[in-house]
Amino acid sequence: MNQKIKNSVKVIALMIVTLSYGQSKAHLDKSKSLDERVSILLEQMTLEEKVGQMNQYNGSWDFTGPLPESGSEEVKYKHLKNGWVGSMLNLRGAKAVRATQQIAVEESRLGIPLIFGFDVVHGYKTLSPIPLAEAASWDLEAIEKSAKIAADEASAAGLNWTFAPNVDISHDARWGRVMEGAGEDPYLGSKIATARVNGFQGKNLDANNTIVACAKHFAAYGFTEAGKEYNRVDMGMSKLYNIVLPPFKASLDAGARTFMNSFSTLNGIPATGDRFLQRDILKGDWGFKGFVVSDWGSIGELVTHGFAADDADASAKAVKAGSDMDMESHFYVKELVKLVKNGTVDEALVDDAVSRILSVKFELGLFDDPYKYCDEVREKQVTGSASNNEAVLDVAEKSIVLLKNENNVLPLKKSGLKIALIGALAADKNSPLGSWRIAADDNTAVSVLEGMQNYKGNTLVYEKGTEVSTGKQSFIHEVEVNTDDFSGFDASKNVAKSADVVVIVLGEIGFQSGEARSRTEIDLPGNQQQLLEEIYKVNNNVVLVLNNGRPLALPWASEHIPAIVEAWQLGTQSGNAVARVLYGDYNPSGKLPMSFPRNVGQCPIYYNHFNTGRPINKDGNVFWSHYIDSENTPLYPFGYGLSYTSFEYSNLKLSQEQYKLGETVKVSVEITNTGDYDGKEVVQLYINDPVASIVRPIKELKGFELVPLKKGETKTVEFSLTNKELGFFNNNGEYLVEKGTFNIMVGGRSDKGLKSQFELK
Ligand code: NOJ
Repeated sequence: MNQKIKNSVKVIALMIVTLSYGQSKAHLDKSKSLDERVSILLEQMTLEEKVGQMNQYNGSWDFTGPLPESGSEEVKYKHLKNGWVGSMLNLRGAKAVRATQQIAVEESRLGIPLIFGFDVVHGYKTLSPIPLAEAASWDLEAIEKSAKIAADEASAAGLNWTFAPNVDISHDARWGRVMEGAGEDPYLGSKIATARVNGFQGKNLDANNTIVACAKHFAAYGFTEAGKEYNRVDMGMSKLYNIVLPPFKASLDAGARTFMNSFSTLNGIPATGDRFLQRDILKGDWGFKGFVVSDWGSIGELVTHGFAADDADASAKAVKAGSDMDMESHFYVKELVKLVKNGTVDEALVDDAVSRILSVKFELGLFDDPYKYCDEVREKQVTGSASNNEAVLDVAEKSIVLLKNENNVLPLKKSGLKIALIGALAADKNSPLGSWRIAADDNTAVSVLEGMQNYKGNTLVYEKGTEVSTGKQSFIHEVEVNTDDFSGFDASKNVAKSADVVVIVLGEIGFQSGEARSRTEIDLPGNQQQLLEEIYKVNNNVVLVLNNGRPLALPWASEHIPAIVEAWQLGTQSGNAVARVLYGDYNPSGKLPMSFPRNVGQCPIYYNHFNTGRPINKDGNVFWSHYIDSENTPLYPFGYGLSYTSFEYSNLKLSQEQYKLGETVKVSVEITNTGDYDGKEVVQLYINDPVASIVRPIKELKGFELVPLKKGETKTVEFSLTNKELGFFNNNGEYLVEKGTFNIMVGGRSDKGLKSQFELK
């Protein structure tokens, strides 16, 4: 029997079982509309079963948060059979998921299938670069493809819902979760959010290789005070609307069916209990029809925050605020039935939440075939396939950013060189997998050492130099940093001394960024800075390859080291991507999606800041907006990145000097590849509205294009600016486009470019 026939037989069998229990099977009728199917089913559900749909449990082995005491295997099994569970997270693998789905579908009264969620953040088993790195590619097609591959592998392993994309904008490199987002800019962040949602969900959610996306964390988590994890956020409305919300809105417009709320408070209200965010904005103004899942235990944390008195109060506040599904607090399943019965919570709110959840399950086709994602044959075929590896290699090399290349140290010659490769991270097959890779097997990345060994023309000698961390590395434990073992220094200095060039790989191990990994120093952890300086003393022809999940502040390296390559954590194909860039088989084209500060004291730092009332040192006195011990500018600005070739911009033109409000402003610029290599440049358009009813940033990205250029080639790039790009939200959340002068700048980085201006009449 082929799979299709088997599945149809199952559905028919299910119908018979259902009929014999005296239930209507009309919701299985595909000719009915989605809303009809949902309400037919809802009508048959007991209050307990409804609340069950709002309950999400962690699966049996992996966990990604603190486990509540009430979650024994036995309790979960009983709840599954009773129809008191709507979703599971962290279960994976076609076989395991099928077995659990079977309990829900075949043993519970109504047989409502579960939806299986997982943090497929940058791949399932074949990992792409961490999302921040991918954002550095500015290549929306490659980013969409990467999400598609993730969906392909995850959906074959039983999963149909990813807790991604993370669309949190952040200005603070101290916050470890910047590795999961797209950086500091809402425009770039919105484009990338759209690409990722499209990649995960595809055009057809009903297909067996697409999964539901979840825009998270709604909202403002990226502005957690002092970059400290799980902390408070205080923010004015115009910042919320102009900086934080756009990527969420873009995710919604791209069709994201679910949102996850946040651990943080916003202006004193925990996001999970925030009606304004979830009911007024998301489900109200924006008309979101999908469902909101809480973050892990965040309904329970309403009590800890000091916002709810007890479990019942927290449940009531969360459901009233619009949190539809409880991830691992176990509060809804314990409290909601009572709360409805005693009149604290209106059953209509429960019905609304359940309808949203059921709709997504119907859309996924789970009622037609609850096992459609549990395909062990497909799982074997797609997981880790050659074509998936090729695709993640492609996006990995596109994500690399060349920060410095003095005297053309790079690209390396392919023969005749003696290369010293130094650093524990150079041989590390685990760290490039990043922090969110719970489905990938440990040590499955190609290391830089392995990648470079593929180039046989040179002599390559490897020395570790120093360990970055000691002890066990895992998602759930603190990383122990090595600060006292210098035993590898001498051997690495010896190797460096006699080499033509030193390639040194330094930075953070995979678990030094990500959730719960805030840092107060954003330098090279442990002994690595010291190692770098010692190596430089014996051989100053050094290429520094950085592995990190956040911007680092490396002023010494930036001043002394001739070549610096930002290689983030690039996923499964990491080492191959790095080697191809070092040897010039890929000409780097990445641009920073987040400013790299000079020192941690500059955080938060971002390019689209306000002018302030005193931006310039006018009379040589101290009374201007500055630090007395650091420059204001970052070490490397947003949008910055070099290439082995060079680009020149010319002929910036506007189609007119004056436009009427509502007319499209057309901007064009010529760009020429003036160097010796073919390459790609990210052409960036920034605007500035110098006089407005609320202060606008000194510049804002409003267009970009990734332009391939052969050496010597010139191309014209055109941009359009409409009301969508020219306006802003005021402090009441109203969108305004105001008349007046606009400045524009076009170039290859946020701090320099050709300038012009136009008038909006
Ligand atoms: C907590 C994280 O904040 C969230 O992003 C993630 O999806 C859940 N844990 C589930 O792992």
